[in-house]
Amino acid sequence: MLWRRSLRRRRYRLGLAARKRKRGSEIVEPARRYQHHRAAVPIAVILSIAAPSRSQEPSPKPSAKLYPSRSTSFYGAARGGRVIGTIPPGAELQASGPAQGPRVPVQLSGWSLESAPSLVFAAVGRRIVQAELGLRGPSHRRLSGQQTDPYGSVWQQVSVDGWVDQSDLVPDVNQVWKQAGALYQQRCGGCHALHPPAEFTANQWPNVLKIMAHNAALTPEQAALVTQYLQTHAKDQGPM
Ligand code: HEC
Repeated sequence: MLWRRSLRRRRYRLGLAARKRKRGSEIVEPARRYQHHRAAVPIAVILSIAAPSRSQEPSPKPSAKLYPSRSTSFYGAARGGRVIGTIPPGAELQASGPAQGPRVPVQLSGWSLESAPSLVFAAVGRRIVQAELGLRGPSHRRLSGQQTDPYGSVWQQVSVDGWVDQSDLVPDVNQVWKQAGALYQQRCGGCHALHPPAEFTANQWPNVLKIMAHNAALTPEQAALVTQYLQTHAKDQGPM
């Protein structure tokens, strides 16, 4: 008889604990608690990131390095809407000729997994996206080498030629990272201390960002910028 009573008491205690936990999690639910915080982000900052100036610049020097200041379309030709992919902010491009109208011809280099040729990464096993190619993308790729990583995956060294709007490009990648770092400080240090970029590896950051970009209510464009910034300044990257 005694054991029955103690069992009932234990069940009661467990039930109570569960209710307490539930109430507790409602109180600390982060998104709701910091909603007022999000609304306070100055709109001028968002606009200045979304709308760079459109002044006509001279053609870049041959083989000069250029970097998109925001996600930009990778076109198959100097004119027309034939898009072969998207290039994220901060990816390294090399000018390959004079500008024609608003677009400049560029070459993009990197590595793709043989099993997923539409994504071009910075290095073997280093998943910093340099381009996301669309359906027409693969026909613009040139392969120049191949390597197998320690996990047995085959990586192809690729370069892709295309055209980019010159107004989306800057000659100094630090301009891009300065903008990204400011956004990171504004939006990622409200709920907890800012995590240093070097706390995680380049391959770990995208998983963190999947959840945190949502927490910080970043637009896809802002999420891409912060992701590239954290990856290029990660633990396993040299100083850039
Ligand atoms: C609305 C509040 C909130 C905002 C804004 C926020 N975080 Fe977090 N973050 C959390 C909470 C809560 C945790 C701990 C629980 C968890 O890991 O989900 C956390 C944990 C983390 C961690 C530790 C993860 C780990 O595995 O150790 C990192 C890194 C991080 N956040 C980065 C960011 C970045 C980058 C941003 C900006 C894009 C950001 N956070 C914005 C609430 C927030």
